Amino acid sequence: MGSSECLSSAILSLILSCVWLGGPCSCSAGTDSIKPGEGLPFSENLLPGHRHLLGIWYTSDVNNKKVWVANRDKPISGTNANLMLDGNGTLMIIHSGGDPIVFNSNQASGNSIATLLDSGNFVVAALNTDGSVKQTLWESFDDPTDTLLPGMKLGINLKTGQNWSLASWINEQVPAPGTFTLEWNGTQLVMKRRGDIYWSSGILKDLGFEFATHHNIYYFISVCNDNEIYFSYSVQDGAISKWVLNSRGGFFDTYGTLFAKEDMCDRYDKYPGCAMQEPPTCRTRDYQFMKQSVLNSGYPSLMNIDTSLGLSDCQAICWNNCSCTACNTLFTNGTGCQFWRDKLPRAQVGDANQEELYVLSSSEDIGKPWWIWIIILVVAVFLFMLPVFCCSQRNSRGDGKMGKTSCERRKSSTANTLSDSKDIDNVKQFSLVSVMTATNNFSDENKLGKGGFGPVYKGKLSTGQEIAVKRLSRDSEQGSAQFYNERLIAKQQHRNLVRLLGYCIEGEERMLIYEFMPNRSLEDVLFVPAGRKMLDWNTRCNIIEGIAQGLDYLHKHSRLNIVHRDLKTSNILLDHDMNPKISDFGTARIFEPNASEVKTNNIVGTPGFMPPEYAMWGVYSQKTDVYSFGVLLLEIVSSKMNIPCGSNDGAGNLINHAWKLWGEGNSLELVDQAVRDPHSTTQMLRCIHIALLCVQNSAEERPTMSQVCSILTNKTEGLPNPNPPPLCT
Ligand SMILES: *[C@@H]1O[C@H](CO)[C@@H](O)[C@H](O)[C@H]1NC(C)=O
Ligand SMILES: *[C@@H]1O[C@H](CO)[C@@H](O)[C@H](O)[C@H]1NC(C)=O
Ligand SMILES: *[C@@H]1O[C@H](CO)[C@@H](O)[C@H](O)[C@H]1NC(C)=O
Ligand SMILES: *[C@@H]1O[C@H](CO)[C@@H](O)[C@H](O)[C@H]1NC(C)=O
Ligand SMILES: *[C@@H]1O[C@H](CO)[C@@H](O)[C@H](O)[C@H]1NC(C)=O
Repeated sequence: MGSSECLSSAILSLILSCVWLGGPCSCSAGTDSIKPGEGLPFSENLLPGHRHLLGIWYTSDVNNKKVWVANRDKPISGTNANLMLDGNGTLMIIHSGGDPIVFNSNQASGNSIATLLDSGNFVVAALNTDGSVKQTLWESFDDPTDTLLPGMKLGINLKTGQNWSLASWINEQVPAPGTFTLEWNGTQLVMKRRGDIYWSSGILKDLGFEFATHHNIYYFISVCNDNEIYFSYSVQDGAISKWVLNSRGGFFDTYGTLFAKEDMCDRYDKYPGCAMQEPPTCRTRDYQFMKQSVLNSGYPSLMNIDTSLGLSDCQAICWNNCSCTACNTLFTNGTGCQFWRDKLPRAQVGDANQEELYVLSSSEDIGKPWWIWIIILVVAVFLFMLPVFCCSQRNSRGDGKMGKTSCERRKSSTANTLSDSKDIDNVKQFSLVSVMTATNNFSDENKLGKGGFGPVYKGKLSTGQEIAVKRLSRDSEQGSAQFYNERLIAKQQHRNLVRLLGYCIEGEERMLIYEFMPNRSLEDVLFVPAGRKMLDWNTRCNIIEGIAQGLDYLHKHSRLNIVHRDLKTSNILLDHDMNPKISDFGTARIFEPNASEVKTNNIVGTPGFMPPEYAMWGVYSQKTDVYSFGVLLLEIVSSKMNIPCGSNDGAGNLINHAWKLWGEGNSLELVDQAVRDPHSTTQMLRCIHIALLCVQNSAEERPTMSQVCSILTNKTEGLPNPNPPPLCT
């Protein structure tokens, strides 16, 4: 879209944008206020056929969601619109698609001004003759949408009856009020689903809410007097924050504080704060919604064309109706519901007519059919035979000794995988005394190194279990953000993510306790001659696949949509069996669901591993990690470090080198001499090919991690030719 004018304060802008295109029109910097008779025309750039919203955005975060929307249930469909303050001081949007949208209908004054403040409040104020403010006539803070900004109120004005509450969007595309609301009832934040209490925050105490660990940059304000009862918060100077209520009942802030997790009270294992809901007797604790591809059976049994319903409503209706087996939304914009009554057969890869639905399945269902057991048996036999098969093949090539150790390793790693999957979320709080005992009083001998946010110690619990303790620097500003982040993300369990065993908070101490990784990091192994020998080609493949799966999990399958942002060899730890574990989530960001990219001024990461759009513009997305993964792949294949462009030895840049060799058809030269093996040539070339796809200059062209995983496992698929990576000039 072309450029447009916008009203902007130092940190926020008021911009008209298309509903369907996440971002605002780029705007030529305007002023911060409109005077009577003036307007802010949006004439050239409204796309016909689109629905437009007037919204306020953090300018530092332009790709992110609006913090306020003026016309959430009245999108503008015309091609002309003008936000204006008329001669009488009435603020309105006049547009070619229908009636004007008026904001301060009965509170107007001829001498007035509309201003966008740095706080994000858009205010119409009556002025005295000397230009000073006489009275506030209207303010956007009185009409909250789904976002609570510092200084905004939640509660009620007893004098005017004004009631401040948040209402979620129907879904990420439709801003109209949706399933959830959030109110302040005098002592607690209360979330309701369609009017019924769903979750409450617990009492607000000095340190925060009973049921949420929050970031310590906040000051909370709770006011209760004859005029008003409200809650509000402020932040330490300079910090930018917003608290968002999303369409699935998630309530979180910019820093990863999760007050409430999406869908959290729909489960059997209730979280603190969840209101008790009596589930129907036909549902047991085994039931849950799983997004599955099923064979499209034709028509749903029941449809609900109410376009104010969203996914969360559909799931609640389905859950409460014993004959319902699956549901989904109905229209392409994610509103309305459809329900199924029959058991739907799961689609197999390649089936035509498959459809993704939210299927209510119980683990019993999965256990019943007899053929499942046959599949399990076949898989088990296969897993058992794999090492044997691998040995015999290796032996026949006459390198039996090496082959045997590698096979033993594989066998034990398979066993490990199976037992890992049984682990349950089990994060413990440790006492300072027990950690001190375990680490020998944080002695220097126990020090393993220094991470980004403080030293790391090795320790041994009284049970004999070995641990790694990350002790966050006390004075580090980032310390508690990091602590919170790591704790939240490390709770995501996957066999390729380093496992958090527990944490310790006592006084000023903040520590995270992880499983100990005896083989240290990939960096410690890959770039030293003795270490390289431990990494034969099979082990390297296993490491590559593990990292890919761990990342895919972070990006897609964990409930949080995480971007790691600092993926590099030193953050890949190796367990006893050389299985990779991604670590260090201090710089990771939790993506709002559906935000496809985000911009930051705070670029963290490691030169050489950062893609150009992130290093230069601070734009990051899951493709940022894909790029870093590509660099990792090249390093793993070649046992060489990628030196960033611009450093003295830029000519030795691994990406440039790989691209050059690829062009010449000599890619194999990149492979570490020590692992070159004629039997694995195809695999090696394939790895390099994938790496080059991942480091392509344009983020859109890079594959997703799910695609990478499927390419890595499905060896037959043809691959596109890579376009050039960013090259040193
Ligand atoms: C201002 O208000 C008066 C009285 O309601 C009305 O007649 C007039 O048209 C209004 N002026 C504008 C510019 O809307
Ligand atoms: C505030 O308004 C909402 C929506 O109009 C309503 O559901 C709620 O009961 C009101 N709260 C109070 C305290 O009046
Ligand atoms: C606020 O909500 C909580 C949780 O629903 C409830 O226990 C409490 O009594 C309510 N407080 C007031 C003052 O209504
Ligand atoms: C439950 O779902 C069936 C169809 O799936 C429908 O016929 C029935 O009316 C529903 N019952 C209720 C109480 O909604
Ligand atoms: C969503 O799509 C349906 C069907 O096309 C339409 O009737 C409805 O108005 C749309 N809702 C919104 C908010 O766009």
